Amino acid sequence: MASIYSSSISSISAKLTLTPPSNRHPRFCCSLGVAEPQAAISTEPLLLNAVRGKEVERPPVWLMRQAGRYMKSYQIICEKYPSFRERSENVDLVVEISLQPWKVFRPDGVILFSDILTPLSGMNIPFDIVKGKGPVIFDPVQTAADVEKVREFTPEESVPYVGEALTILRKEVNNEAAVLGFVGAPFTLASYVVEGGSSKHFSKIKRLAFSQPKVLHSLLQKFATSMAKYIQYQADKGAQAVQIFDSWATELSPVDFEEFSLPYLKLIVETVKRTHPNLPLILYASGSGGLIERLPLTGVDVVSLDWTVDIAEGRRRLGTDVAVQGNVDPGVLFGSKEFITERIKDTVRKAGKGKHILNLGHGIVVGTPEENVAHFFEVAKGLRY
Ligand code: CP3
Repeated sequence: MASIYSSSISSISAKLTLTPPSNRHPRFCCSLGVAEPQAAISTEPLLLNAVRGKEVERPPVWLMRQAGRYMKSYQIICEKYPSFRERSENVDLVVEISLQPWKVFRPDGVILFSDILTPLSGMNIPFDIVKGKGPVIFDPVQTAADVEKVREFTPEESVPYVGEALTILRKEVNNEAAVLGFVGAPFTLASYVVEGGSSKHFSKIKRLAFSQPKVLHSLLQKFATSMAKYIQYQADKGAQAVQIFDSWATELSPVDFEEFSLPYLKLIVETVKRTHPNLPLILYASGSGGLIERLPLTGVDVVSLDWTVDIAEGRRRLGTDVAVQGNVDPGVLFGSKEFITERIKDTVRKAGKGKHILNLGHGIVVGTPEENVAHFFEVAKGLRY
């Protein structure tokens, strides 16, 4: 029998026991410390029920970057449409690519195929995503005059294809899974537009933060109001939950996170909650171990942890109000099937019963074997608390 973990956030300690698979799908049954679980009878997607703390029979599962280059079907589309901008800005392609993992793996969340940088051209910041190089910002924003030129974002004018694609996805997925939208957080977006692309040391944005903080604050403010509007737009068009990626906020020391990231995340959450109080918001920051206690202060519903944190400890540190997402190392998907199975079980046990979305700790890595991704979903969907 597998060992037992109990989550401090729940009075119920879930004991997952592995029973020999009686059919093609492995099943893990669970004996609970209290009453038998009752699957929520609801037409709402499992993911939404789990986030809201309703009784669910297993954690919902989806994977960050589940649409993309590890899939042969995506590579075929890339050959025909080599431009990332075209693939992510053409409604038919966005819908087709978003649905590729849905059709094969049936995840509990279907994330829009897009990028956190997609709004930039609508904000007068020209960019491209170049194969082998990543994001390129043609005229990096570095001075007060540059920030002046940044326009507030009007999603319905600048990215109507995002709304159309979400509406189609919502119909296609038909509540069998949750349709997920996403945005970049102000600090992470600012890091790209100030650095001119991806960065190792974040020296340009730190120079700005630590020598001309007012200039950076006015850029962050523009991103905050723009991304709040963008989340509202995505929800109105069909997104049932929205993830905010503050991937690089953890490059900041806690005191600087409190000045340059936290207030803007709070502003986004407060603005969105005023109009969409029931829309779950998920926050992801990569390598967030040093900031965990501060992340729920944003007001989000779910915090997505990376794999460098023990998820049981992470939950204790997050407190009981917030749900948790994660946090299997994407590298596990290069391991043996047995190893993948064990890690899934370990993560689900440690996360405890309920208020958990099973996911990776960051996006799927290019080169991940598709059959391992299939195995991940099969095992995860066969789990029972
Ligand atoms: O999760 C999904 O399946 C939805 C699609 C998605 C993409 N980017 C598509 C994409 C999502 C959620 C993102 C978010 C994103 N984009 C983040 C936050 C998440 C994270 O990784 O921390 C960031 C920082 C970006 C910026 C970005 N876009 C980078 C750094 C790169 C280059 C990465 C690389 O490996 O080349 C991109 C390009 C990009 N966005 C790709 C995909 C599938 C790869 C390029 C391609 O497929 O042609």
